[in-house]
Amino acid sequence: MVRIAVLVSGGGTNLQALIDAQAAGKIPGGVLAAVIASKPGAYALERAEKAGIPGYVIPRSDYASSRDMTIALTQKLKELEIDLVVLAGFMTILTREITDAYPNAILNVHPALIPSFCGQGYYGLKVHAEALQYGVKLTGATVHFVSEDCDGGPIVLQKAVEIREGDTPEVLQRRVMEQAEWVILPKAVALFCQGRLRVDGRIVHIAET
Ligand code: GAR
Repeated sequence: MVRIAVLVSGGGTNLQALIDAQAAGKIPGGVLAAVIASKPGAYALERAEKAGIPGYVIPRSDYASSRDMTIALTQKLKELEIDLVVLAGFMTILTREITDAYPNAILNVHPALIPSFCGQGYYGLKVHAEALQYGVKLTGATVHFVSEDCDGGPIVLQKAVEIREGDTPEVLQRRVMEQAEWVILPKAVALFCQGRLRVDGRIVHIAET
């Protein structure tokens, strides 16, 4: 069994999509073993508790630097014997200590079609506000492996979502979550747990069943 840790900072709707997928038997070969929040009181921790998944808090504010926090987090993941790390709305920048410890074993969901509207500073509603301001007609979500380069790791899955007249960042965020993020994140996690992902440089090959 692939032991999965989900890292969260806020509401945790993507975590919920994973919990629901597991309950529906859609993550064969994997088990949600831990939820780790960067903030105490993150609603995602309540979702974890309801689903019977152990929750932990590693507050960014307890550490002097991102690096110190990353080291503590990586140590916790190893202690919990985690095989796959999923960043699901995790708003803290992590440093190379975690990518060295988990090469091609960290997945992130980003609310845009990478390489558009991504990189440092592009998170949450800001991503959707920028897409609307630019005037793109299609946006979407991306699940990618995490590398040292922020939002720059190999792409696993993407799904496009239409922008509609009158969209606000909030309305667009919700549509991207419903139509893309909550679909492709559980799917990517399942593919990983089934051993169907092979990374060749920037390219992720997906094995047919
Ligand atoms: C999601 O839209 C996720 O893609 C985004 O934050 C939201 C978290 O929502 N992540 C980023 O912007 C990371 N760059 P959730 O807590 O309800 O899953």
